Amino acid sequence: MSVVWKLMTVVVIAMSGVGASNTTCRTPPSAPNYVNALYEGHWFEMGRSQTPGGAAFQVGCMCDVSDFVTDEPVQGNGTISYVCRRFSPLADPVIANATLVDTGNPGEFKQVYPYPNSIPLNYYVIYIDEVWTPPW
Ligand SMILES: *[C@@H]1O[C@H](CO)[C@@H](O)[C@H](O)[C@H]1NC(C)=O
Ligand SMILES: *[C@@H]1O[C@H](CO)[C@@H](O)[C@H](O)[C@H]1NC(C)=O
Ligand SMILES: *[C@@H]1O[C@H](CO)[C@@H](O)[C@H](O)[C@H]1NC(C)=O
Repeated sequence: MSVVWKLMTVVVIAMSGVGASNTTCRTPPSAPNYVNALYEGHWFEMGRSQTPGGAAFQVGCMCDVSDFVTDEPVQGNGTISYVCRRFSPLADPVIANATLVDTGNPGEFKQVYPYPNSIPLNYYVIYIDEVWTPPW
């Protein structure tokens, strides 16, 4: 894999299915131009907005980055790894890996963690573009 350093614009919404008893919950449309090749690479977190459940996993996290890796340039499964450092930029990295399972709609995945009883989470890339700048 060639790692591409990306600062281009991407907006991802990952939603917890926990407690989602209303099966008619509205979902966002995914980016119409989505292909895996645009999303594959190394991403820097610029901001976050979370449910309390999701936030529990990122307590104290800073310097957050993620890497999406896939064998499929257009559409298909991939792996996503999240790396952060807790309470200090100098702390050892904390890593969480998950699989993004293709749902058949471009940019729309189920995120599955390799833990027992892990609930697949809805994962949508709702905006992505091709303008990017190296971080130096
Ligand atoms: C479920 O969500 C839909 C769409 O927001 C809403 O119209 C409906 O009333 C909700 N049903 C229940 C039981 O909350
Ligand atoms: C997480 O994914 C990264 C990148 O693919 C890999 O190098 C690392 O070994 C994985 N870690 C675990 C615990 O699976
Ligand atoms: C994608 O992942 C799912 C869940 O692990 C698996 O069932 C499916 O076969 C995979 N698709 C491909 C094309 O490998």
